[in-house]
Amino acid sequence: MKIKKINVLIIGFGYWGPILARNFQSNTSFNVHSICDSSPLNLNKAKNIYPNTNFYKSYKSALNNKDIDFVVVSTPTNTHYKIVKYSLFKKKDVLCEKPLSLKLNEVKKLIALSKQSKKFLFVDYPFIYSESVKFIRKIFQNKRLGKPLIYESIREKAPYRKDTDVIWDLGIHDFAILKYLVNKNPKKYETNFRKTLKNFKSDFANINLSYSNNFSAFIKLNWSSPLKIRLIKIYFEKGLIVYDENEGIYKINIYKKNKKGFNLEIPLINFNETLKLFVDFIAKTLSEKKYSKFDHNFSLDLTKLISKITRNI
Ligand SMILES: NC(=O)c1ccc[n+]([C@@H]2O[C@H](COP(=O)([O-])OP(=O)(O)OC[C@H]3O[C@@H](n4cnc5c(N)ncnc54)[C@H](O)[C@@H]3O)[C@@H](O)[C@H]2O)c1
Repeated sequence: MKIKKINVLIIGFGYWGPILARNFQSNTSFNVHSICDSSPLNLNKAKNIYPNTNFYKSYKSALNNKDIDFVVVSTPTNTHYKIVKYSLFKKKDVLCEKPLSLKLNEVKKLIALSKQSKKFLFVDYPFIYSESVKFIRKIFQNKRLGKPLIYESIREKAPYRKDTDVIWDLGIHDFAILKYLVNKNPKKYETNFRKTLKNFKSDFANINLSYSNNFSAFIKLNWSSPLKIRLIKIYFEKGLIVYDENEGIYKINIYKKNKKGFNLEIPLINFNETLKLFVDFIAKTLSEKKYSKFDHNFSLDLTKLISKITRNI
């Protein structure tokens, strides 16, 4: 028996949209049915890659197509609210790129609308689906390195965006990872930031977070660096984990303390593209018709925390 595929509309085919489209098209549950972009240039790019798809310049026209089941929103952040709201209103399940919105009241309204219309609203925090982060979480849980003491992250270089700042854009990944690893909110936080370009918001930030049980996080963010760095070090009582997302295969090194120094362990972790795992999760959730993890509370907690941290920026 032929199982009907879930027809996907991709809205926004700039930098990230094509990567999302590829991952949905590679999953046997989905079919990239339509692509929408207000830029003719980017729509032409989509026509070259997906010639047998439907194309739209306006998301409202696209959403009139009754064959569409699932909407992926990969447009700039300041457009997310209106596009997600309209998609839910049109009774579609939705995946929206991070951040869902910078405004807590908009996030609350979208969550309420998703519950009311009984449609799923997923948000892309890719790292919480990553094999590496899952591996680190096991070390938190099985305590083989003892108590976690310090999380230190350096995240540098990303495209400048006018509608957001470096904390919402890059820092959100660390807040999602921390929430997934320790599942609690910091008791105290302190933020330093700088804005070096006139027409943009903060592009440098240092954030210190204090959690219970003497656990702290130090996060250093920078949009303008020429070096792309995605490096996390986590210090435990009995050693440390170094996680370099930019490494091809051996992304995680474990330094276990001994009497003279450290023993280095380099585990081979399954390699699956993180977005592939996220799309698998979405397919499973849609077929089971219930969130198994990472429900609305995840987005709500994250938005509350970042709203507080960025209040004075
Ligand atoms: N999860 C991640 O790791 C990750 C990585 C990169 C980007 N993102 C997020 O993805 C989103 C898009 O980022 P990007 O780098 O692809 O931006 P981009 O500017 O490269 O692309 C956005 C596209 O949306 C189109 N667009 C704008 N308004 C539109 C509208 N009203 N209707 C239809 N199309 C419209 C633009 O023409 C453009 O092609 C942002 O929210 C960003 O934060 C997430």
